[in-house]
Amino acid sequence: MRTQVVIVGGGPSGMLLGQLLFRQGIETVVLERRSKAHVLSRIRAGILESGFCRLMREAGVGERMDREGFVHEGTVISRNDDEFGIDFRALTGETVLVYGQTEVTRDLYAAREATGGAIVHGVEGVQIHGADSDRPHVTYVLDGTEHRIDCDVIAGCDGFHGITRQTIPGTVRREYEKVYPFGWLGILSETPPVHDELIYASSDRGFALCSMRNAHLSRYYVQCPLADRPEDWSDAAFWTELKSRIPARHAEALVTGPSIEKSIAPLRSFVSEPMRWGRLFLCGDAAHIVPPTGAKGLNTAASDVHYLYHGLVAHFRDGESEGLDRYSETALARVWKAERFSWSMTTLLHHFPDQTAFDLRIQAAELDYLASSRAAQEALAQNYVGLPY
Ligand code: FAD
Ligand code: DHB
Repeated sequence: MRTQVVIVGGGPSGMLLGQLLFRQGIETVVLERRSKAHVLSRIRAGILESGFCRLMREAGVGERMDREGFVHEGTVISRNDDEFGIDFRALTGETVLVYGQTEVTRDLYAAREATGGAIVHGVEGVQIHGADSDRPHVTYVLDGTEHRIDCDVIAGCDGFHGITRQTIPGTVRREYEKVYPFGWLGILSETPPVHDELIYASSDRGFALCSMRNAHLSRYYVQCPLADRPEDWSDAAFWTELKSRIPARHAEALVTGPSIEKSIAPLRSFVSEPMRWGRLFLCGDAAHIVPPTGAKGLNTAASDVHYLYHGLVAHFRDGESEGLDRYSETALARVWKAERFSWSMTTLLHHFPDQTAFDLRIQAAELDYLASSRAAQEALAQNYVGLPY
């Protein structure tokens, strides 16, 4: 079998890239190791930058997102009982959209099915061959039989635990990593959101985040020790902890209920360079991870998709190689700014086990400065709504 682009990984990066390329007449095959039901059941990101929304529209899958997503013009930041707002629209002229990654992926799968794009689920043992040659190919095993696809280009969209990054020789690859000494315990509950904007809460007991999916579905997180397991946390314990970390007026207004999902995510900053090796191009979590504070993971995957998509269109349609040649450099320039922002939001708002009294005072001063400085708020807002690409 032969195709133009093999996309390894049917998460949001791979599916968005596939749909954009389809609209330009470029043929792709998506290889996904899990079932569709499994991919669609992952509860992850909730906040989309306007650049992400533009790409969804360009891919022809923005209709439900525009109808059902909620525009957020700002967010709340709190420190124990004190709170202040960051007005994205007033500070930057831009907003973000609340529309879950689950819905994004659902729309992308529906579009691929409607357009007859090839997607193979349940693949095992995916291997990339000859990525540094002109004639690469990909092999995989499906139901015990090995298959081979010849192609021009491979897009590595297989997330942090994928195999495409490992194909790049260790002598070429450089990895940068920071692991944080805590995780996020997240729950989803069929209750109305506590507030009409998100609340990023710093407190003496640690960080908490109040988010949402719609008027009847809330998403909440609390910072927790890395050793904790979701089953250690009853719903009652979660609600008590959340209430203790957000301002009293919100804690009083909080509607609690049974959780319908509960999970713990570790926090990590990670970048693998370069993002291109020969005819292999890494995209999204396959190349970089950010801690979730600041909602940059999915959005940074989308900016990679944007650069790779334009590079591939120029390559296949006009025989121009500059976009692909500069892909790694261009994508990484934006990736590192998202890394910086996510790290700074995480550092600003979390309780670190080894913080000294000095560190705590600096953290308090930084929040105080943010609360009172338009310049500091503007910098945060610019990064939160998304740097241009
Ligand atoms: P993935 O979603 O990981 O998709 C990769 C796909 O490749 C998967 O379907 C996987 O099954 C498949 N795969 C893996 N290995 C192989 C293989 N060997 N062969 C074939 N297929 C393979 N980001 C935000 O922007 N905003 C947020 O608010 C936000 N909140 C988050 C909250 C949580 C709790 C978590 C965990 C993440 C959050 N993120 C957020 C990050 C965001 O979810 C990721 O950045 C995003 O999923 C990356 O998409 P991706 O397609 O690159 O990778
Ligand atoms: C959500 C997750 C985040 O990491 C974030 O910064 C904002 C919202 C969410 O899941 O809704």
